[in-house]
Amino acid sequence: MGLTYLRPSFRQTVRGMRDFLPEDAWKLRFIEETARRLARLYDYDEVITPVIEHYELLAAKIGEENRKRMYVFEDLGGRKVALRPEFTASIARLVATKMVSAPKPIRLFSVGSLYRYDEPQLGRYREFWQANYELIGSSNPEADAEILSLTGDFLSSVGLKNFMIKVNHMGILRGIFESEGILENEQNTIMQLLDKKERDRALKLAEEYGASGKCLETLKSLFEIGGNDKNSVVNEISEAVKDYPVAINSLNNLSKIIDLIEYGDLRANLYFEAGFARGLEYYTGIIFEAYVPELNIAVGGGGRYDKLINLFGVEMPAVGVALGMDRIMLAMEKQGVNPPKSETARVLVIPVNESTIAEAFKISTMLRRSNIIARMETMRRSLARSLSDASRRGITHTIIVGPKEIREGKVVLRDMRSKSQIEVKIEDLPNKIKT
Ligand code: HAM
Repeated sequence: MGLTYLRPSFRQTVRGMRDFLPEDAWKLRFIEETARRLARLYDYDEVITPVIEHYELLAAKIGEENRKRMYVFEDLGGRKVALRPEFTASIARLVATKMVSAPKPIRLFSVGSLYRYDEPQLGRYREFWQANYELIGSSNPEADAEILSLTGDFLSSVGLKNFMIKVNHMGILRGIFESEGILENEQNTIMQLLDKKERDRALKLAEEYGASGKCLETLKSLFEIGGNDKNSVVNEISEAVKDYPVAINSLNNLSKIIDLIEYGDLRANLYFEAGFARGLEYYTGIIFEAYVPELNIAVGGGGRYDKLINLFGVEMPAVGVALGMDRIMLAMEKQGVNPPKSETARVLVIPVNESTIAEAFKISTMLRRSNIIARMETMRRSLARSLSDASRRGITHTIIVGPKEIREGKVVLRDMRSKSQIEVKIEDLPNKIKT
């Protein structure tokens, strides 16, 4: 039977999917390690939830735009399932069904891959990674402030030099719409448009849904408000929404959160934008997105969602954030930030000929058991070629295993950086390499 090669179109990854070659995988794992370190520092416990969930769960409050982009399929048992587009719905399910009686608040951390059928472009992929933190059980501003503080610490811990967090409060816009009798699903459609900055269309739609002239004027003036100075922005918003008391409550809540993080020395610049909204339907309170100046897409986003867990009949306020690890990787590249290279020794063990292969193999094993990173030359290259291969790979030490030295229980240890070499007893190798 002849060999049939795979058709060229199947040799590439599926559109929107990527391979991570070693250097990129290293960067992604560095970000993941930072995420874990932050989780430990802030005392969040890790949970692992499935990649596949019931479609109904994931679709419930995610918003029309994201809903349309879910990978949905029927499994062999006839269940309508989907690949998770985010963690928050899974965490809400897990908390409401398995952690209802856990002491509050519950702080949970997750990391992993998510799937959205977005249009692929720089920083937008169909498989991407998030580090996700949720603080569940507290409706107080200090909980929101903690999530924002964590976001700032995360971005500075990966080494980013320049970033900012854009904030607003969903309660301001929703408060206005509620007072106008605009229904929740109508509000959601307006929010989708505002999320895409389609403000004129949003205003038109609000009008169609019965918003009064006063409401439209209020919205227009809100859309003009933005800036870094909290006090002046709060004054402007408060002036704009003075006829809507529910909106004022939300503004006060936003103001309290910001006072706390400013007092607590947030490691990020804040930008307030009163016309900023999110398409994710579950947000009820503060909303925010993190940006770096080099990219026009968010590197992270989050907010308060006090009603989502209610879908399970359990009342639990919550706030959280997800950092987009792929986009953080891009941001690091744009800002010239590299994950620190490890300083540890890496050893190549070279048998000079076939007679010392077994010894070289044994020495490699012994080194690894002494916690030294070691690889053996397995291409049967000559000594000269093995040494140049070691240099190319950034190996710090080579061990040259020759028949004459082996008879005396010794090998040659060569420091690849200083190019000096010494004869060493095999049992002394770990100590010599470590020092
Ligand atoms: P999100 O804003 O949809 O929020 O996503 C958070 C971050 O994930 C984005 O800021 C972005 O960095 C990254 N991201 C989203 N889509 C893609 C994509 N197609 N390619 C690359 N990166 C992407 C959420 O997912 C909420 N669950 C966050 C949250 C947690 N809210 C409360 N708790």
